Amino acid sequence: MIQMAVLGFGTVGSGVVELIDGNQDMIRRSVAEGIYVKYILDLRDFPGNPYNERVTHDYQDILDDPEIAVICETMGGREPAYTFTKKALERGISVCTSNKELVAAHGPELLQIAARHNCSYMFEASVGGGIPLIRPINACLTQEKITSIFGILNGTTNYIMTRMEKAGISFDAALKEAQERGYAERNPEADVEGHDACRKIAILSSLMCGKTVRYEDIPCEGISKITVADFIYARKMNMAIKLLGVSRREEDGRFYVRTAPFLVRADHPLHSVQDVFNGVFVHGNMVDDLMFYGRGAGKFPTASAVVSDVVECARNIGRNISCRWDNEVLAISDPLEEVFRYFIRIDSARAAAAKELFGKVTYVEADVPEDDGEAFVTGRMAEKEVLSKIEALGGVKQCIRLLQD
Ligand code: HSE
Repeated sequence: MIQMAVLGFGTVGSGVVELIDGNQDMIRRSVAEGIYVKYILDLRDFPGNPYNERVTHDYQDILDDPEIAVICETMGGREPAYTFTKKALERGISVCTSNKELVAAHGPELLQIAARHNCSYMFEASVGGGIPLIRPINACLTQEKITSIFGILNGTTNYIMTRMEKAGISFDAALKEAQERGYAERNPEADVEGHDACRKIAILSSLMCGKTVRYEDIPCEGISKITVADFIYARKMNMAIKLLGVSRREEDGRFYVRTAPFLVRADHPLHSVQDVFNGVFVHGNMVDDLMFYGRGAGKFPTASAVVSDVVECARNIGRNISCRWDNEVLAISDPLEEVFRYFIRIDSARAAAAKELFGKVTYVEADVPEDDGEAFVTGRMAEKEVLSKIEALGGVKQCIRLLQD
């Protein structure tokens, strides 16, 4: 049997262990000798849990065991995940992870260490939960010049926004619901402020270009300032508001990446991606549009993606599964130059001034309780232009970009 260890016995880690135990028949179709979880690393004990006897608190037990061929890192966070991963790869042990924070921060370095030590670093579950996305980009789309990747990359915020839209409840109430259902963390900042989606679009953009797109360089806005009033106007325009990660290469070489809420038209497939589901669009120069859809979070969807990586590593012991992603940092074009149409809400005192500043706009009429202002959609203009008009107006109530056609 191929022996492995799981680092972190939380939601995803326990899903990995249960899936590997429960799916042995299926696993043996791909890896004849089967796969066995010999160790589970966690700070805690799990009395009464049938897997408790495999729990160790000392990572060295795992590293010093010559039988261990694959490790699943499902701890999350930078440290000690980074150190543990590096040590494993340096010993020729392949590592499979769902940890987007670590992949976004150290992906190319860990991939290079794996290549030098004839093992693999795999991270299918780090983006899009259970959706096969990394492997298709790495293995199936090698003949494509990918010109854009964009989509809904965070299940928690998509759930929150679906509830705000459908039930007309506030952001705070929808967040509370998401927490009660176990989607949102008690500290939901990484999800609601867009950092999680930002890391995921950084990973996808890096794979798209084969170089490093640093998530710190990506403009990032979350959803905490979106209101029920915005959804009422959006519905009137036959649109939905979605938190998107967007990455786009223009023909002249400009390369825009951002994470932000966008208005999405009803005839766009992302419009109907709801609840905790994720949806990702990839455009290649040969294949044209592709869409990937599925559960972007959750115990078994994410574990399924991790275990698919484990099986791939188990079939390639002693060999490196390559991934085109090098250290060279790719500069993102100035986000202030990017052109959009914008949905803007202003209070009535600024309406006349706004009309003068923005010129020809499309007004949106909607019956919005407690909103006596005006709402309109601008023509296409660069971000710097809209920001200077907003400044001249002394601020607006809301400004949301429209997803480009
Ligand atoms: N917090 C993430 C989400 C988990 O809600 O999408 C999956 O990466």
